Parts: sequence; C-alpha cells; structure tokens
Amino acid sequence: MRPILGKKGIFWQNRINFKQDTEMSEANKINIDDIPLDKIDVSNPLIYARDCWQPYFARLRDEAPIHYQADSPVGAYWSVSSHELIKQVDTNHQVFSSELGGISIPDLPEDLDDNTVAIENFIAMDPPGHDVQRATVSPSVAPSNLANFEPIIRERVTDILDNLPVGKTFNWVEEVSIELTARMLTTLFDFPYEDRRKLIHWSDITTAVPELTGDDGLDMDQRKEDLMECAATFMGLWQERAAAPPKFDLISMLAHSEDTKDMINNPLLFLGNILLLIVGGNDTTRNSISGGIIGLNQFPDEYQKLRDNPGLIPNMVAEMIRWQTPVIHMRRTATQDFVLGGKQIKENDKVIMWYLSGNRDESVFPEADKLIIDRKNARAHVAFGFGIHRCMGNRLAEMQLRVLWEEIVTRFDYVEVVGDVKRLPNNFIRGIADVPVILHPKKQA
Ligand code: HEM
Repeated sequence: MRPILGKKGIFWQNRINFKQDTEMSEANKINIDDIPLDKIDVSNPLIYARDCWQPYFARLRDEAPIHYQADSPVGAYWSVSSHELIKQVDTNHQVFSSELGGISIPDLPEDLDDNTVAIENFIAMDPPGHDVQRATVSPSVAPSNLANFEPIIRERVTDILDNLPVGKTFNWVEEVSIELTARMLTTLFDFPYEDRRKLIHWSDITTAVPELTGDDGLDMDQRKEDLMECAATFMGLWQERAAAPPKFDLISMLAHSEDTKDMINNPLLFLGNILLLIVGGNDTTRNSISGGIIGLNQFPDEYQKLRDNPGLIPNMVAEMIRWQTPVIHMRRTATQDFVLGGKQIKENDKVIMWYLSGNRDESVFPEADKLIIDRKNARAHVAFGFGIHRCMGNRLAEMQLRVLWEEIVTRFDYVEVVGDVKRLPNNFIRGIADVPVILHPKKQA
C-alpha cells in the first residue's frame, strides 16, 4: 500500500533521479545567460539546496515570465514567475484547478494500482468541496480565536529561549525553529505535549517524496507505517474530542461541526486534512524562523534597525516571510485553453506559480534580494498565495513569529550565525536544516 498525499497532490510512486548536471555542480561558476532559455529547469531541487536559484528566476522574469519547460524529470510544465501573473493565476480558480492535478509539480501516475492510497485534502480541491471544508476549520485560526493561543505560545517561546545554551555553538533550527513549531502544533491540536516530535516527523515524511527532493533513499515502507500511525493517533483523538464538549482546538472543531463530523468515516480524507494542517503549520513557520536569523545576519544594518526600533517587528515578520518564501511553488492545472501573458496554455497543461520568484520581482520590490525590515510594501508578498486557497493560517503564522521576535530582542543583542547554513534539496518547501549560532545576551542596564 503506497500513501499519496493530496488529491493528486504530493505523492510518490516512481522513484526518479534528478539530473546532477554539470550546470548544477558548477553552479557558482556558470553564467546563467549562457544557458539556452528552453533549457532552464527550475524544478531541479539542487538549485534550492545550493541557494543558487536567483539568477534562473531573474532571467525568466526578464525574458519569459511565462515559460514552457517541455522536458523535465517531472514532465512538461509552464513556469509563472512574475508577481503580477502569479496573482492572475492564483485568483482564477475556474481556469486553474487545484483538484485536477494537485498542488505540487509531480504528476499523479495514471496507473494507480490497488495498493495505492490517495489521500484527499481541501488544499487540493476546487469549489464546492474546498469551500465547505475550509469554512469549517478556518474559525480555529481566525483573529477572534488567536487571542486564545497567544498566551500559551508566549509561554512556550519564553521557556525555549530561557533554556538555550549561552556562549556555545548550537543549531538554531533544531533547538528553536523545530522545537517551537512542534510546541505550537501541540497547542493547535491539543496534542499530547510529550509526543510533540512525532508531529514534526509526520510532517517531514509527508513532503520528503523523491519527486520533490530528488532523493530516493527514503524508506518508503517505514514511511507508510509511520503515516498509518499518524492516522490512528488522530482517529483516537477525534473519538475522544467527539465524546467531550466542544473546545477551540482543531480536532474538536472538526469533530463537532455539522459539515465535517462525518469525515472520520472517510479515513483518506481524514488523514489528508490532518496532514495538511500539520504540514501547513510546521515547515512553513519553522523555515521562516530559520530564514529570519539568516537574513538579519546577512544584512547587519537591518539587524541594527531592529535593535534600535523593536516596533518594526510586525513589518519585519512580513518582510521575513517575503524574503524566505517558505512555499516555493504551487501548481495548478488548466481546465480549458487559456491565453496567459500572451502565451497559449492548453487544457490540462501544468502551470507552476513560483512564489519564490514573485517575491523577488524588482518591479514590485526594489532591491528584492535584500531583507529590508521596514520595507513599505512587505505585505504585498505572494508567500501566502491569493484567492480561495490563500493560506488559512497566515495570521497565526505572523502571530507566532511576532511573539518569538518580541521575546528574542528582550533577551539577546545578537543571534550570530557562526558557520555554514545547510539547506535541503526540495523544490516545494524551502527547507533549512542547519544554522549554527552563538547567542550574545543583552547587557543589563
Ligand atoms: C509563514 C508561514 C506560512 C506560509 C508561508 C504558508 C503558505 C501557504 C500557501 C502558499 C498556501 C497555498 C496558497 C494558494 O494556493 O493560493 C497555503 C495554504 C494553506 N495553509 Fe499556509 N502557510 C503558512 C502557515 C500556515 C499555518 C501556521 C497553518 C496552520 C493552520 C497553515 C495552514 C494552511 C492551510 C490549511 C492551507 C490550505 C488553504 C486552502 O486550500 O483553502 N499555513 N499556505
């Protein structure tokens, strides 16, 4: 039995090897202008691991903001790389479907066999199914409910920061980004606190599919077993919550809502939506935390602005999300022939919105490659998407990051990056694995 996440969304079946072409291994030496336009393939996970994707997208935005790649390991696809065109695609769900081909670049194989499990969730659905399920879950992360989460999140942030090793090098990703996100997820689901790392593990294996990472070394049998454990655990929680009075955690809300209370009878839909909420709330926030530290170290003047004026934190959070862009792309499939930016898209064509590129579009964000914490239009970023699928957890994510930074600046004068940053090969999630840091506490007045 092979698990597949996303109704034709994230999945694995055939293991493929992305070409480790010389173009990539010579990444720092090549001149991007020497590559023929039709050979540019931004689906290659290695360009994200090596953080050398910027010139590829700059060239696409300049020369072909709608670009056709006819031959890639993940099949033919259109790249949409400008801010304006990404918005056009994202807000036109009638023409650009999330359901037909799912939300990430690999295609679902035609020949699903009896052993394949296709998990469904609402990010990979079109209306009306999408709208009903989203409407049920979204009150849990609406502003009115966020007030319930903030004190618990602040308490957990404080506990983590107060127990970090001072004067010793450690991995910020492991000790802060992952730990904090795990604790936040337990809050969202009211999940057993001591098992919090399981949530991170389930999220990690969900997106670690070969078609996204280029790595076929993952033990797929173990992965299947672990995802089944995830389903069983959440089913247990669901039964428990359904039998108790309603609370404000996500499971209780789903279990008590008229529209979703029968979801438990459709295990694939159930597991799919749970994984959607875990992945949605995990990788994205985690990598925004890690990316923010990297950005401030890369641009020390911006770090100084923060020390001088912590009131900039809310705007800085939006700018960090723009600069990091935790979700690199979203995929749509054309429901009909359509002319986009002067190019003829055909029915069933795969159309990829490269949010990472839209957020570096100089026509919208001057000095786009720079983190500028008081950037006036930071909130115009496309990192949360647009239209009916716009990120449901965007306010929660911003709140988490705001609270974290408010607490960091009261304790530390400088979180200094002291070694090489390690990034993950993945064309969907912009993953950061290792950020070695040393803390410099604030001098007492
Ligand atoms: C910085 C953090 C985050 C980023 C950058 C991010 C990004 C995104 C993006 C790009 C989409 C798809 C948008 C589209 O297709 O137009 C999305 C959808 C979604 N996100 Fe987030 N996300 C973040 C945090 C969260 C959190 C904390 C949650 C937890 C509740 C969450 C839950 C979801 C859900 C449920 C969807 C599906 C919405 C739908 O299909 O209607 N996200 N997110």
